[in-house]
Amino acid sequence: MADVLVIGNGGREHALCYGLKKSPEVNQIYCVPGNPGIAQIAECVKLENMNPETLAAFAKEKKVDLAVIGPEAPLCDGAADAIRAVGIPVFGPVKASARLEGSKDFSKQFMVRHGIPTARYQTFTSAPEAEAYIRSEYAAGRETVVKADGLAAGKGVIVAANEAEAIQAVRDCFGGQFGNAGAVVVIEELLIGEEASILALTDGKTIVPLVSSQDHKRLLNEDMGPNTGGMGAYSPAPVVTKEVMDEVTETVLKRFLAGVQKDNMDYRGIIYAGIMVTKDGPKVLEFNVRFGDPETECVIPRLKSSLYDVMLKTAECRLAEADLVWSEEPSVCIVMASGGYPAGPLDKGHTIYGIEEAEKTGAIVFHAGTTAQADGNVANSGGRVLVVTKVAPNMADAIKGAYEGVSKIKWEGEQHRTDIAKRALIKR
Ligand code: AMP
Ligand code: GLY
Repeated sequence: MADVLVIGNGGREHALCYGLKKSPEVNQIYCVPGNPGIAQIAECVKLENMNPETLAAFAKEKKVDLAVIGPEAPLCDGAADAIRAVGIPVFGPVKASARLEGSKDFSKQFMVRHGIPTARYQTFTSAPEAEAYIRSEYAAGRETVVKADGLAAGKGVIVAANEAEAIQAVRDCFGGQFGNAGAVVVIEELLIGEEASILALTDGKTIVPLVSSQDHKRLLNEDMGPNTGGMGAYSPAPVVTKEVMDEVTETVLKRFLAGVQKDNMDYRGIIYAGIMVTKDGPKVLEFNVRFGDPETECVIPRLKSSLYDVMLKTAECRLAEADLVWSEEPSVCIVMASGGYPAGPLDKGHTIYGIEEAEKTGAIVFHAGTTAQADGNVANSGGRVLVVTKVAPNMADAIKGAYEGVSKIKWEGEQHRTDIAKRALIKR
C-alpha cells in the first residue's frame, strides 16, 4: 500500500485527495498544509514554511511513494526538483518547465517557436513603448489584453474594455501593482469566442487529454462582473466538439509534446491549455502547469480508474502504460464564495451551516477556503470557500443536484452564481 504527499490547501487539492483516497493502492495521504475538508480524508500537516527543501525533507521523513504538487507557486519555486532529488517520484513539472506558467513571455515564445496557435503579442519592459504599441493597435482597429508576465495570483490579466483602460493597465503593471510580476508586460490581441479548458497528462513521452471542462471566470450571472479564479465548472464542455478536440490534439497537444522534447524540457504532470474556440479555430490563451481550479472539482469525480496509478505512472515516465476510464455521466460544480470576493476586503470568519445536509443530497462538498473553529464547526476564511459537485446521468440533473446541495449551505455574506452550466443545455 502506498503513502502519498499532496501539497496545497484549496478545492483542487481536496478533489485530488478525494481521487487518491478512492484509489485502491493508497494507504495514507499527507496534505501540506491542507484544510478542514481535506482533514477528513488525509493527515494535514503545517510545516514551518513551504520552501522546496522543507517539503522535500518532510516527504523523505514520511517515506512517501509519490508527491503531488497542486498549485503553481511551489512548482515555480522548484518543489518538484527538490523532492525528486531525495528519490521520490513527483507529479508536477520541475522549475524550469513551470516557467510555462510562471512567465507569460516565456510561454508565448514557446508557443510561437513550436507553431501552437495563440493570439499575436509583443512583450515590453517599459511603459512608453507599451503605450505606443497599444495606441497603434487600437488605431488599426484591434483590441488588446494586458498581462503581467509573472505569477499574480490570477489577477495579472486585464481584458481592457477600451484603449484608455489598456493604457491604465500598462501603467498599473509598471507602477508595481503586481510587484515584480508586472516588471515585464505582455500585450496580446483580444480573442473572441467561447473558452474551454483542456487538461492533459504528460510525462514528456506521451500526452493524454482528460475529459473537457468549462470554467466560468466572471463573478456574476451571464458572465458579468469582474474576473475571478473561477465560479463554477462543468464537464464535458459541448463547445469541445469532436472536430475541436481533434484540432486541439493536432495543433496544441502534439505540438506541445514535440516542443517539450525539442527544448529538452523535463515535464511530468498536467498541462492545462486555456483555449478560446475562435471562428479561425482553437487558440491557446495560456498554459498552466497544474490542474485547474475549479475544473478539477468536476473532472476528478468523473474518473473511474485509479488516480494514484495514473499519477505514479506519469511521475515515473510510464504514462503509456496507464489506462484512464471515465464515467459517461456529466458533472457540475458550483463555487460558493465569501462576501467581498474577488476585489476584497473579504467578509470572513462566519460559521458555515449545512455542509452535512448538502452531502446527504448526494452532492460532494469540497473545501477551498475554510478554517476549523473551536466548537467543531468551520468558518469561511478565503475568497472561494466551498465547491459543491454533482455527477448525474445527464447535465440537467447534474445542475439541479449541484444547486440542491448549494441550497442547504448558508453563511453570512455567501455568494454564488445561479447560472453555472446553463450554456451546456443550449442546443448547438
Ligand atoms: P488567466 O488569468 O491567464 O487565466 O486569464 C484570465 C482570462 O482572461 C482568461 O480565461 C480569458 O477569459 C481572458 N483572456 C486572456 N487572454 C485573452 C485574450 N488574448 N483574448 C481574450 N480573452 C483573454
Ligand atoms: N480555473 C482557472 C485556473 O485554474 O486557472
